[in-house]
Amino acid sequence: MIETMNIPVLRTEHICMYFGGLHAVEDVSMEIQQGDIYGIIGPNGAGKTTLFNACTGFNNPTKGKVFLCGDDITSLKPEQIAKKGMARTFQNIKLFKFMSVLDNIKIGFHLNLKSNLVDAILHTKRFGTDEAYAIEKGKEILNLVGLSKYTDTKAGNLPYGVQRKVEIARALAINPKILLLDEPAAGMNPNETKELSDYILKINELGYTIGVIEHDMKFVMSTCNKILVLNFGQKICEGTPDIVKTNQGVREAYFGKGFVSGEAINVIAKN
Ligand SMILES: Nc1ncnc2c1ncn2[C@@H]1O[C@H](COP(=O)(O)OP(=O)(O)O)[C@@H](O)[C@H]1O
Ligand SMILES: [Mg+2]
Repeated sequence: MIETMNIPVLRTEHICMYFGGLHAVEDVSMEIQQGDIYGIIGPNGAGKTTLFNACTGFNNPTKGKVFLCGDDITSLKPEQIAKKGMARTFQNIKLFKFMSVLDNIKIGFHLNLKSNLVDAILHTKRFGTDEAYAIEKGKEILNLVGLSKYTDTKAGNLPYGVQRKVEIARALAINPKILLLDEPAAGMNPNETKELSDYILKINELGYTIGVIEHDMKFVMSTCNKILVLNFGQKICEGTPDIVKTNQGVREAYFGKGFVSGEAINVIAKN
């Protein structure tokens, strides 16, 4: 038992991802521990999404290895990795806008259910059991994360910030060991961003380990306990928000050499 406690939920070992001559990710090792809200930040094109893609099987890495709770998952396919307990959301919201919130959450269970299309069309007993299970568990998740009041609302009619929350709730349907969120606060106003931060903290308190890519410094600094900073595909800093905040390399990556004074420092320091 003690041995397993120290195994990181997600670990990458010297990950490289090359697209032809472009080194999108270069030698990145990271460890996300049980209970972390682990932030990944860096300028546009730094390789953040590519790193997530390498972890979730969307692009198998050129070099390096990925471990989920100690299991080597490096060359598995996205669905196999999801089944093992890695859930993710994407930069663009992917909800079925004409379906209710509950129906969207129910779809999240398809990996765990046994019935197939034929069962659904013929309404077999197996389909009935799965359907009842998905409804019950879906309602349970909505209740846990505080979205019950939207159960029957059409997803497309919800404000943008709530759609994001629904998308994250759906990812919980696979009962993930880790939840990876790619820029969940993109396009949000400051109020929505603050609400999203509270929501992620709440989900973390429920016991979920979270990895989150985010551009908004304030969000990252107030939500994450550990942060990895990428620039041109490489790790330039890793540590607590305080360590990252005061790191010269991080300031230069965000504001450029020679501009690390006055207002720029205040922006980072305040956040
Ligand atoms: N499938 C791909 N083919 C070629 N180049 C890619 C591909 N995916 C990403 N890239 C390139 O890799 C770099 C890192 O991209 P990305 O990981 O999306 O950055 P970030 O998420 O940090 O903004 C960029 O230069 C991007 O153009
Ligand atoms: Mg990205």
